[in-house]
Formats: sequence, C-alpha cells, structure tokens
Amino acid sequence: MTAPSAASDLSGMSEPRGMLTPEMSGRASSPVLVGRDEQMAALDAAFDSVRQGGPTAVLLGGEAGVGKSRLVSEFGQAVTAAGARVLTGGCLELGTDGLPFAPFTAVLRDLVRELGADAVASMLPGRTTRGLARLLPELGEPDTTTDIARDPGEARARLFEEVLSALDHLARHSPVVLVIEDAHWADRSSRDLLTFLIGNQRAICGLLIIVTFRSDELHRTHPLRPMLAALDRITWVERIELPRLTRHDTAELAAGILGRQLAANLGDALYRRSEGNPLFVETLLGCDGELNCELPESLRDLLLDGMRRLPEDTQEVLRVASAGGETTGYGLLAAVTGLDDAALTGALRPAVTANVLRAHAGGYTFRHELIREAVHEDLMPGEHGRLHSRFAEAIDADPSLVPPGRAAIEMAHHWHAAHDSVWALIGAWRAAAQAGRAVAPAERLSLLARVLELWDQVPDAAERIGADHVRVLEEATCAAQEAGEFERGIALASSALKELGPSASPVRVAQLLETRGHFKKNLGRKEFAEDFSAALQIAPADEPAVRIPILLAAASCISMVAVERSYAEEALALARQSQDEANEAAALLTLAMFRAGAGQQAGVGSDPIELIAQARAMAVRAGACGLVAKAAINESHLLEGAGEHELAVEAARRGFAGEDEPYMPRTSRSLLAINQVEPLFALGRWDEALSVAEAAREFQFASLPLHWSTLAVYAGRIALARGDAGTAASAAAAAAQALRGSRQEDEHHVPLGLLEMGLRLAVAGPAAALDTAAQVVEGYELAGGSPRYAWPLVAEAALVCVAAVRDERLRAGVASLTDRLGTIAEKLETFGPAQEASRATFFAAGAELAGLLSGDVGGVTAWDEAAGAWAGVSEPYPRAQALLHAAEGALASGDREGAADRLREAAALAAGLGASSLADEIALLARRGRVVLAASSSAPSAGSAGSAGSAGAAAFGLTSRELEVLRLVAAGRSNREIANELFISPKTASVHVSNIMGKLGAASRSEAAAKAHALRLVDSAL
Ligand SMILES: Nc1ncnc2c1ncn2[C@@H]1O[C@H](COP(=O)(O)OP(=O)(O)OP(=O)(O)O)[C@@H](O)[C@H]1O
Ligand SMILES: [Mg+2]
Repeated sequence: MTAPSAASDLSGMSEPRGMLTPEMSGRASSPVLVGRDEQMAALDAAFDSVRQGGPTAVLLGGEAGVGKSRLVSEFGQAVTAAGARVLTGGCLELGTDGLPFAPFTAVLRDLVRELGADAVASMLPGRTTRGLARLLPELGEPDTTTDIARDPGEARARLFEEVLSALDHLARHSPVVLVIEDAHWADRSSRDLLTFLIGNQRAICGLLIIVTFRSDELHRTHPLRPMLAALDRITWVERIELPRLTRHDTAELAAGILGRQLAANLGDALYRRSEGNPLFVETLLGCDGELNCELPESLRDLLLDGMRRLPEDTQEVLRVASAGGETTGYGLLAAVTGLDDAALTGALRPAVTANVLRAHAGGYTFRHELIREAVHEDLMPGEHGRLHSRFAEAIDADPSLVPPGRAAIEMAHHWHAAHDSVWALIGAWRAAAQAGRAVAPAERLSLLARVLELWDQVPDAAERIGADHVRVLEEATCAAQEAGEFERGIALASSALKELGPSASPVRVAQLLETRGHFKKNLGRKEFAEDFSAALQIAPADEPAVRIPILLAAASCISMVAVERSYAEEALALARQSQDEANEAAALLTLAMFRAGAGQQAGVGSDPIELIAQARAMAVRAGACGLVAKAAINESHLLEGAGEHELAVEAARRGFAGEDEPYMPRTSRSLLAINQVEPLFALGRWDEALSVAEAAREFQFASLPLHWSTLAVYAGRIALARGDAGTAASAAAAAAQALRGSRQEDEHHVPLGLLEMGLRLAVAGPAAALDTAAQVVEGYELAGGSPRYAWPLVAEAALVCVAAVRDERLRAGVASLTDRLGTIAEKLETFGPAQEASRATFFAAGAELAGLLSGDVGGVTAWDEAAGAWAGVSEPYPRAQALLHAAEGALASGDREGAADRLREAAALAAGLGASSLADEIALLARRGRVVLAASSSAPSAGSAGSAGSAGAAAFGLTSRELEVLRLVAAGRSNREIANELFISPKTASVHVSNIMGKLGAASRSEAAAKAHALRLVDSAL
C-alpha cells in the first residue's frame, strides 16, 4: 500500500530499467511502526463494526509527514491478512488543476487489473463497464447512445451508482476497506463521489471507508472543510487526528531507523528539532546515526539536505522528476532528460539507494511528497519553466508516456506551469473536453475559466482552438449548469448574451436565456420567468429540440396558468411533429398536471391518469429513465390527492422498484419514497410507511433536503400518534432545519406544519398549540396554494381550536383563528373525496366549537359525516378522531348507546394503528361517560391515566367513578363543571364529592384535592 496511488496510476507504462529495485533502497524508514496503539485500536474497532454490518467511515487528519499513510498502510496489511480487500486511491495535486476522479480511477484500475474487465462489468447494474469508462479510458469509449448517457447529470448520477454498486458487490464476498489518501488535494468530483459513497454507506454491508488529509493545510476557505463538516454530521463517521510522536516514541523511531539505539546525547536534540514529526526524524537522521545537519534554516532546507549530498547528475534528474508530479514514469523521465538507459539508471541509482526516490512498477516517486515539493520549489525560475515545457512536449510527442486518459490534463498542467500562454490555453481547452467526457463538470468549468483568463494574451486564440470567445463562454455556461455553480453560470451566460449581439443565431440566444432562467430559478430569483419568456419569443418553431424544453420550462413556472397550458400544448404538438417520443412523453406529463388542475388530484381512469400512462409507455420506449420516474411520481401524486391511497402506493412502489425501467435517478427515488409514505400514512399502514422512510434514508445524500425532511416529518407524525413525543420533536426539529432557507413548497412545508401543531398540543398544551396553529396558518398563504394542502392544514388548525376553546382564557385567540380559517375556507375550492373529508372535519370542528360556545350540544351529525367521509377514503386515524368527537357530542346529549357504538369503533381503529394517544383519549371519554369498551380495546395503554393511583384509591375504598370525580376535584373543577365533564347532573356530582371527602377524611374540597395529590391518587392526565 505504500505510494499506492502512484503505483496504480501508472500501469501500462514502461517499467524502470536496470537494477533499481525497491530492495536497494536505503533504510531511511523504520521497519516497525512506533506508537499509534490508540489509533490502530480505533481503526480495528471500525473494522469490527463494519464486519458486523454497520457502516463506518474514518476521517484521518494530521500534519504532513506525521504518519497517516504509514498508519493506514500498516492497518491495511493487517486486515488484508484477515481476509479483507483493501482498495487505495490517492488524490493528486493535479486534482486541484482539473484532473477529476484521480483516486477512484486508481482504485478502479487496480480492480480491473486484478479481476479483469468482465468480472468488474458483472458487478454493475447494466453488466457493462461503458459507464465506468468515463473514469478509466482503457475500458473503451463511454456509452453516449442513450438519453441518460447524453445527459451529463444523469450520466454522473449513474456513474456514482455504479461505483457504489461495484463496492457493494465486492463487499458481499469479503470486507472492503476503501482508502482515499490526501483528500486535501481532492478535486471536486472526487469530493462529491466520496461524499455520496459515505452518505450511502448504509446500503452496503462490510465497507469501511478511510479518508486521510493534511489537517494543517486546511485554510479557512479550503474546499475540503465544508465536506468534512457535512460528513461529521453523519453518525457513522468518525474523526481521528494523528498527533506527533512523544519523546519516547521519537527515540524508538530513531532506534527503528538506525537498527540500534540512538546515542543518548542525541535523543533530546532529535526530539527538539523534529518536534516528534516522523518525517523530520527520518530526514534528520543520517545512516551513521548522527544528526544530519544543524538546525536547518527552514523545513525546506531540512528536506533538501539529503538530496544535496547526492552526485550532481543525480540531483539534476531529481530536479527533473520534481516537475513531473507525484510519480514520473521511467520513459517520461528518459524523454525529458534526454539521457540514455545507462546514464539515466546510473543517475537514479544513488537517489534510490539514499531513499530519496522510490522505484516501483509505475515509475519513480519521491519518498515523501514534501521532499518533491521542496526540490521543485528550489528550481530556478528559468529552469522551472523550461522543465515543464519539456514535459509537455514529451507527452505531446508520445501520450503513452502517461497513464491512459491523462495526456490532455498533464499537458495543460505543464504548459500552464511553464507560463506558456498559447499552449496553456490550447491545453486547457483540450483538457476541458476530456473532463466533459469524464462527467466532471466542476473541473471542466475551471479549465474553461483558464481558457477565458488566457484569452487576451493569445491574439489568435479562436483559430488555435477552433472556437470563438462566445463559444467558450457557452461551454462554460453548460459546465456551470452541470456543476451547480448557478451564480457563476448567470455571469457567464450574461457575458455570452452580451457578446452575441443582434445578428446572432436565435437558437444560441434562446438556449442561453433558457439556461440562465434555470440558474435564476434554482437560486430562487423571481425574474427567472422573464428569461424563459424571452427565450420563447425567439426559439424557432422549426427547431423542436430547442423549443420544446423551453416551452416545458416556461409551462411549469410562469404563473399565467392559461398561457402555461398553451405552452405545454405547443410542446406536445412540436414533439409529435418531430416524432420525438422522449419530448412527447415530457410534454404529456406536464399537460397531465394541467389537466389535473388546481386540486392536484385525479382519480383512476381520469384523463390525467390516462395521459400519464401514455407518457410512461413512450418514455420506456425511448429509454428516458428520468421521464419514466417522473411518470410514476406524477401518477402517484395525483392518485393520492384523489384519496386513492392504495393505488397511489402501488404506483409509487412500482416506480421505486424500477419495474418499468431499472435505472432511477436518486432524487426521483426519494420522491417516490415520499409518494409511498404519504398514502401509507393515510391508510394507517404505519409500519410499512416507517420502513419505506427508513429504506429511503439510504439515499439521503443524493436527495434534496426537502425530500429528506418530509420523510422525517411522516415518521415524526407516526411517532407522535403512537405517544412518542420525543422522537416526533426531534423529527420536527431536523425537518425544520433542513427546510430552512428553501423555497416554500406546500407538499414539504404543510406536513411539517401539521406535525408542529400536533406536537405542541401534545407536549405544551392548547395555549401553545393555538399560537403555533396561528403562525403556521399565517405562514402558508393558504388561500393562494392548492386546496390539496390547504384543507388538511385548515382542518388540523380547527381541531386545535376545539381543544383550546374549553379554556376561557383562550377564547379570544380561538375566535381570531377561527375567523381567519373561515375566511380561508370560503375561498378554497374542494376537489375529490380526500379534500371533502378534510373539509368535513373542518366544518364538524366548527359546529362543535359553536356548540361549546353557546352551551349547546353541537356537531354530532357533522362529525358523523366526517367519519363517513374518512371511511370513504380508507383513512382510519382521522376517522377515529371524528368518531371520538361524535361520541362526545352524543354523550352530552344523553345518547349513551350511540356514544358507546362510536367509541368502540374508534377504540378498535386506534388500537389497530397503535395510536396510543388517541386510544387514551377514547378510553378517558369512555370512563367519563361510563361506557364499557370491548375488552380488547378498553384497556388504556400503559402509563396512561387509567392505571394511575388505582391501588391507592382501592385502599380508601373509592369506586372508579369516585376516582374520576376526585381527579376533577383535584383539577379545581366545580360541581357543575364535573357534571358537564362526566355527563351527570350537578346534584349527582355533589353527592360523589361528599362521599369522597368522607372516605378520605377530608374536611373540604381543597383538602381532598391536596390528599389526592399527596397520595398520588390522581395524575396530571386531566
Ligand atoms: N509511527 C510510525 N512509525 C514508524 N515510522 C513512521 C511512523 N509514522 C510515520 N513514519 C514514517 O514517516 C514518514 C512519513 O510518514 P507518512 O508518509 O505516513 O506521513 P503522512 O502523514 O502520510 O504525510 P503526508 O501528509 O505528507 O502524506 C514515512 O516514511 C513513514 O514510514
Ligand atoms: Mg501520506
């Protein structure tokens, strides 16, 4: 595992000649690992946890030379012996220059070399390595025939999936340790992939990921910082910081290097000078056991000291090698130095013997990167430029001198380092194309930025690269889009638009406007619609491939509904004319949403659902996987809106399982998870809902925070209904955090609002819940949104009002919220049975409120209707709620039989759901109304009001009815209030109270109350 990245990166290159084998290397390193017991134990523990199936990733930081690579290498040897497979890839400095995915290329190359391309292909979903060819050019040309392959975003998502899938496959046979070294140099693509892998690690059993990085290089704005911060939040990610060696370990390291104890008088000096950094210890110690030099002027001098003792021709070769990068192949070194075999071998030998260079199959690597850096920095300015030019020329003459796929970026790097503007520009342009093929848009963007930077220094730049300045701006705009660099994208697109001028091709202008519109939309800027409109005005009708996407973009976001719809229709007509099935499918899907209308719902057999079915069939034929997913998303969304929960679950499940098209973009998958969870929640299939949400957690990194938060909200709502307010509260907090700063979208924000209201009611009482409900209602601009989301929110807020109205002090608040709700409800249309059911609850709550305020009995009929409406859409939870309210009304009007029937039904529903909070309320009302529930459902859940104090009560000979009354006395209620609560006359209540006082030996109500509290005969459940 030593210098793994370098070794593996240089396959296929000429081997070093002569007798320069590693054995010849001097012993400048210690054969034994010194210290590090604690860190090794931590790695062992991580490995154990992985073997037991838990995901684990370790972020190993430490200063340069402190021993990160050594530790990981020793650990790797140990676990290899224990049957694990260790895959190592190092990030290269070239990564910061635009070489994407270097560590993963290295890992993959090793794998292909070891197992063969066919075996690697068999691990991938499509059984072909044509996707991975983007990382490893020797696997052939990447697939560009399908829609996914042509769409860089999709191609990239699929590439990430494939890497995950290959690791998953390997880990099924034996544990896999993936080591990514030197992440401080990681390119953005590698950082993204690494984040993706760690985020999705739960999908794989038996994978340990270790990432090393130089913590002392992470300046405040270093791009690795945000990545580490994000990873730190994942529970299975662990951070280890490798400290310097102690005085004792430093001496031991010296003994290890020398093969004998260090002279006693040198120990302190060595420790003082090296400060316990193993690399400095090695460098300070000569083979003779003396300290190599006096205190050096600088670290660089210290590192250079070893090399300065070597013969001049050796030093010359080392200077050349230092410009070649981490590792330089023998052939390349020969070409750049111009030396023949004998001369080159002769010059290299002393460097290898002194262990300044290491020879291996891939070429020559400096013993430590810091030494290479020191040598390179020591070059004279002229020499620096000359050497880099020579490297570039040598690679240009024979690209096989560098690993496959690397020539373009290597040349770009060398010409740039040589400050040769002309060739640096040409090189960056070519390397940008290469990065595009590797679906590395961030790297492509930075290379194109370099082209633009150098443009003015190269008078005939356009001729040299065969593209004018605007073309480069356009390319950069595309790269910015793919890389998600929206701000930069706007700037680039605007410059391009400015330069294009009036005579420019309308296609070019329209596409730039469209792209800029998407940038603005993604950034939440309002003016995005203007760009789409402007684009539509010029996009020619005889260019359907250009015009259709613009039409569809405009259709789904400009707020003039009728106009939008006509855009979708035009897109459909154009797609049909040009016989473009993928675009026809896209247009049909958009149109289906228009046909579904403001209610965002459509029942089975309806026109929108038919359109979606047609669109799906076309998308499948066209291999447009994103659209197949979208069909499943839209279909399940509309069916769910119509209360067709069973069908909605099925549609979303089918999409999720990939029954129509096996490949599915991750964001679609997380949406499809939501579209299963939502109807499962409604149907009361809560355990299934929880397991779908849990499975979707595996995709958390690829899906938007919005999706993630909505899944958490449903899990929270289930937890709350099941009496676990703690879990519900943390879900609500996590979701709120995830949604912070995101654009208001009802489908994600409303479920959170519902959870927050319920939660406040459960944990903080009606007063707090009333406040929350008022805030939530104000926050959602309900009357402007879709009734699909507005109705449930209005209904839930009305229920909060019912809970609050019994408290006189809250009546003003209740009145103002009910007023507001009334105004909203008046404006809301109602579409389909699910919205009808919410509306019925809203009106029943209103009737109950009116009854409570006027002292009448109210709402029984309305609540019965609501219960019926909920039964019609198979939603047991709100149905049980409605039955409970109806039963309360029935009791109040003396209909004990009717109440009993409703309560029993409600109790059975609540028991079936495991909805303990609701079950407790039902049991409480049954007790108050002296209704006997069926044996199976009447027992209140553990810890509820029913069990509290019953033993104590028995000791005083209190009957269960008297205990009910005592609870109310203890809560400070008057006889009249007790009578109301328990559906008895005030006279009967007063008889109960005197009997209780007698049994407790209390002289007054307040004494009885005090005793009840002191003896814990009652609890706070009332
Ligand atoms: N605990 C140790 N015992 C013996 N030798 C060690 C130990 N730690 C480091 N070394 C040696 O010190 C040198 C530098 O260590 P290493 O290359 O692992 O540092 P690093 O932290 O990976 O540095 P960089 O950040 O530059 O990659 C190596 O030659 C290594 O073998
Ligand atoms: Mg290292």
